Amino acid sequence: MEIILQSDSLSANYIAARIIARQVRQKPESVLGFATGLTPLPLYQFLIKMHRNEGLDFSRVTAFNLDEYVGLDPAHPASYHSYMQDNLFAKINIDKHRTHIPDGLARDIPASCLAYEEKILAAGGIDIQVLGIGSDGHIGFNEPSSSLASRTRIKTLTVQTRKDNAGFFGGEDKVPHHVITMGLGTIMDCRMCLLLAFGKKKARAIAQAVEGPVTAMVPASILQMHPRAIVLVDEDAASELQRAFYYRWVYDNKPDWQKY
Ligand code: F6R
Repeated sequence: MEIILQSDSLSANYIAARIIARQVRQKPESVLGFATGLTPLPLYQFLIKMHRNEGLDFSRVTAFNLDEYVGLDPAHPASYHSYMQDNLFAKINIDKHRTHIPDGLARDIPASCLAYEEKILAAGGIDIQVLGIGSDGHIGFNEPSSSLASRTRIKTLTVQTRKDNAGFFGGEDKVPHHVITMGLGTIMDCRMCLLLAFGKKKARAIAQAVEGPVTAMVPASILQMHPRAIVLVDEDAASELQRAFYYRWVYDNKPDWQKY
């Protein structure tokens, strides 16, 4: 794991944007995995700016999102379809036909999850997957106790996650219980993972995921087994890391050819 500790979330998001921009410039037909939630919003703002000001071209990019709520109409303002449209897709030149988000209204959920996995495979696999982390250690919506080898499937949200996401719905009671999410095995197949975490609320989950044992009780800890996982955190999210000094030193002393 590479842990990049920045004094504020904006500079961490900017590094993530530069990593994605470099990928898209080197391989215009890149496959990108996107996350939703509050965490990656500044990252998407940076990508939009790079598109507008530097001509960063998304026209040949394919996108797969991590998750969607079951039973929520894509037009619902809290759906991840709406989120992606509002916060990124409508503001860059991505081809709508190349964007994929799990179908929360699928009649046959297992078949639609299998089809999602097949689409990722047919696209050649995901080059970079953006991830946030839940305060309970989830990535995607793989809640604690998720199989470390899981694939795209239906999951039930924990009480904590429904509380954390209440703001998007105007009340905890309105947050759906069920979601479709890429599995931990699906995420582990991506060629690079970019995990972003900001604020004190994420400090414990980050410490457990980065420095604790690999366990299904902290699903993000599986990233310790990923050959190319980058964790971008601000001071608050890093505040429970035991080896913060070391991570900071490593980043500040990277050889030039390794810099982002
Ligand atoms: C979103 C997702 C979730 C969020 C996580 C953090 O697509 O898969 O894992 O990344 O719940 O959410 P925020 O960023 O709102 O704190």
